[in-house]
Amino acid sequence: MSTLDSTILGSVTGGDNQLITGTVGVAVILATTVVYYAISSKEREHDFPKLRGIQLYHAWNFFQRRYDFLQSNFKRNFGKSFSFNVLHHNVVALTGEEARQAFYSNPHLDLGEGYKILMGAAPRVSNVDMATEESEDGDRTLFNKVLNKLLNKARIQDVLPTLLQDIVDKADRWGNDGAAGRIDPFTEIYGLVFLMTARMTTCHDLTKNEVDLKKIGDLFLTLQTSATPTSLLLPWFPSPARKAGRQATTELYTMLYGYVERRKHARPTNDAIDVLIADGETTQNIMRFVMAMLFVGIINTGIISCWMLIDLAIHTEWKEKCKKEIQDLLSRHLDDSLSSVALHEKLRVIPVSAWEDELPILEACIRESQRIVLSNVALRRNIHEEIRIGKQVVKRGDFLVYSLGDVHLNPEYYPEPHKYDPGRWLRPDPVPDAIYPFLGWGAGRHPCVGMKVAKLEMKLILAMFLTRYEFDLVDKDGKFPDPLPVPNRNDVHQARPLGATYYFDFKKIVQ
Ligand code: HEM
Repeated sequence: MSTLDSTILGSVTGGDNQLITGTVGVAVILATTVVYYAISSKEREHDFPKLRGIQLYHAWNFFQRRYDFLQSNFKRNFGKSFSFNVLHHNVVALTGEEARQAFYSNPHLDLGEGYKILMGAAPRVSNVDMATEESEDGDRTLFNKVLNKLLNKARIQDVLPTLLQDIVDKADRWGNDGAAGRIDPFTEIYGLVFLMTARMTTCHDLTKNEVDLKKIGDLFLTLQTSATPTSLLLPWFPSPARKAGRQATTELYTMLYGYVERRKHARPTNDAIDVLIADGETTQNIMRFVMAMLFVGIINTGIISCWMLIDLAIHTEWKEKCKKEIQDLLSRHLDDSLSSVALHEKLRVIPVSAWEDELPILEACIRESQRIVLSNVALRRNIHEEIRIGKQVVKRGDFLVYSLGDVHLNPEYYPEPHKYDPGRWLRPDPVPDAIYPFLGWGAGRHPCVGMKVAKLEMKLILAMFLTRYEFDLVDKDGKFPDPLPVPNRNDVHQARPLGATYYFDFKKIVQ
């Protein structure tokens, strides 16, 4: 039998198996929920009102079309917080300023526990069959310690030329020699961001091995798609998606483990893995760090990088303003001796502090794309005693969900919230007078620890794309899109455009 035959046969029988296990999975969930629902306790006076109807249906919708589910139920509940069940877990969907303050600042609410059950796709070293202890607090302390070590200014300045070279190497392939190449940003820009994130958090041996890098990128994608409602609702049920997720985690672990072991016996460099080895971190800790950072780093940076470029391709007046800001930055920091060198060589001499402080227009454009696109939810679990939000009670063990759109798309905070207007961030007093008025980089107890490096990566991409290349947004027929793309807010991992694929026609214009 040819490889093609066996692949096709494999996928067909795999499809049957999936159907059978999927159906059995649904039946088991249904039975479990009906039994649970029959015996679950009645609502108490201080409980958040529970959605009526079959809880399984709500849970399924929560995993399947999260944004629409939350919005429609907030509407049905007259804009008030509500609760529903995911199996035996009580999940409270919160709205409003008081709830937001509690969500982001109450020390009883744990971020890691929230994501573990309600998101589920992140690779965990403890999912691989190995004796290992992981605690969320331990993870956070480790991540913060390691990130501080790796993402300081001196190290980033060191890595900056390599990051610029990464962009050139990738992007030159898309649109070389004056002939426009056509790319799907959600594949190609994602690939670029993955490479840059790997550059910051792994080692050169890996980033120069295109085959392994692609394989690792694909494994992360498998992990994301393995977080199906069945695999999340019934973690013990051997669904195909769950098996694929476990398999991907094991393969990821094995591949990355090989790199860490090889680096232990190689000449030390300033690559992230080498820095951690030199600092005496255990292999286990290095693995936990690398797997988690690649995962959290890629998702949001990938989404925002794609959308900031799409938004600028649509709003060309802002594209021109960004271009001018980069040209001004270059003329402030370069002397005549560099006038004949390639653009990326010019950009590499600009200090990290200038990238951070001297690009307010780029910063405003990134922030505006972030505000509009990041309308997904943040998750927590109450791991201590009961807490109160207003008159209502969150019991120990309850999960909490807060939609970023509650702030970002709120017309009281941001007039005409769906309108792309980076100018709103450049006016005096740009931030609304409210508690935690912008959640794009987290807030309160859990600010994003990768913000600086993510902003730098996105500004480097913008600087190169706006000055070395030309890119135009087109639909499948090569025309400027009508209607314009909008993010699929239910697509929690990629926020791809709703209903169609859009492309960039990409062309190199200078060396
Ligand atoms: C555009 C890119 C990024 C955006 C928009 C972003 C956004 C966020 C947000 C909103 C949170 C808070 C989540 C919550 O409250 O539940 C967060 C947390 C976090 N981010 Fe980012 N992030 C980005 C890139 C990165 C990168 C590149 C890294 C690491 C290399 C990173 C590491 C983390 C970590 C470890 C946390 C959890 C902090 C904690 O547990 O207290 N992020 N990020």
